[in-house]
Amino acid sequence: MEIVVSGTRPTGILHLGNYYGAVRNYVRLGDDPNVRGYFFIADYHSLTTHNNPEELKLLVKQTIATYLACGLDPEKVVIYVQSDVPEIPELYLLLNMLAYKGELEKVATFKEKIKIHNENINAGLLTYPVLMAADIIVHRAHKVPVGKDQEQHLEMTRNFAKRFNSRYDIDFFPEPIAYNFGDELVKVPGLDGSTKMSKTGGETNAIFLNEEPDAILKKIKRAKTDAGPSEPNSEKPQEIQNLFALMQIVSKPDTVSFYDQAWNTCTIRYGDMKKQLAEDMITYLTPIREKINELIRDEAYLGRIVKRGGEAARESAQKTVSEVRKIMGINYF
Ligand code: TRP
Repeated sequence: MEIVVSGTRPTGILHLGNYYGAVRNYVRLGDDPNVRGYFFIADYHSLTTHNNPEELKLLVKQTIATYLACGLDPEKVVIYVQSDVPEIPELYLLLNMLAYKGELEKVATFKEKIKIHNENINAGLLTYPVLMAADIIVHRAHKVPVGKDQEQHLEMTRNFAKRFNSRYDIDFFPEPIAYNFGDELVKVPGLDGSTKMSKTGGETNAIFLNEEPDAILKKIKRAKTDAGPSEPNSEKPQEIQNLFALMQIVSKPDTVSFYDQAWNTCTIRYGDMKKQLAEDMITYLTPIREKINELIRDEAYLGRIVKRGGEAARESAQKTVSEVRKIMGINYF
């Protein structure tokens, strides 16, 4: 069995980029009978930068509902909330003894975050990669489906795993690798001309999975465009490439070729293209939005799913942590 682990910080409702870059891959991995998948809500991680209890409650529920609405199947994979598994913070504490201040300070995401949150540079932010390593190796995982931006965290996870193995002279933790479906991985660009859709990119950049049709239409209408091609077969500027990339995700191949042709012959009308893109985007997202809204209302169901998931995750985590304690000598009598 191959162990796969991934988590999502509940800091906002997921957008099309999260779906395409992450959750869709979880679903595909979960469908593989040779995979044991653990997919969780990284609520402790969100506390490094967010501290609104009411918002946290809502976002945790929304994220679980989104996982399920996107097709993650609790019969096939373990879906849980990080804070329901106390073995994770226990392993985090133990791993902290192997993590050096110097290496943590050099992490790119830490350096970025202390710029944004410079009034709150807390120890949790510094040790974020240690907690993430604990999330992963607590199940002795092999693969971690994450985006490029998490590569460095994965490298640190491998370092902590290796350091543990060598310090205690035992081949205990596998070295997990960041995993994606290779070149099939499609990058989802933003609507503002940026190359990556992101929730920090602001309201006009991302299309959220629970977005209402008229809001989608409005956003796409406002998406950045240029003055149009001035000669046939010219190269598309970034913002136009972006519209085509989004179309590739949600529209039929024929539709994409039609507008490609129109671009190449300088007959493209961005207004029409945007209308078509919005229509296809709405068709694509409507089942997900409806499912999210339906699940959000069924708190009891969501609660049951994560309770069961939490128990399964704990079972796996307990095995690891009790071994770790033994290896480290934390078993006295
Ligand atoms: N750091 C990840 C992110 O920001 C979230 C995360 C926390 C995670 N723990 C993890 C991802 C463990 C994969 C595995 O996206």
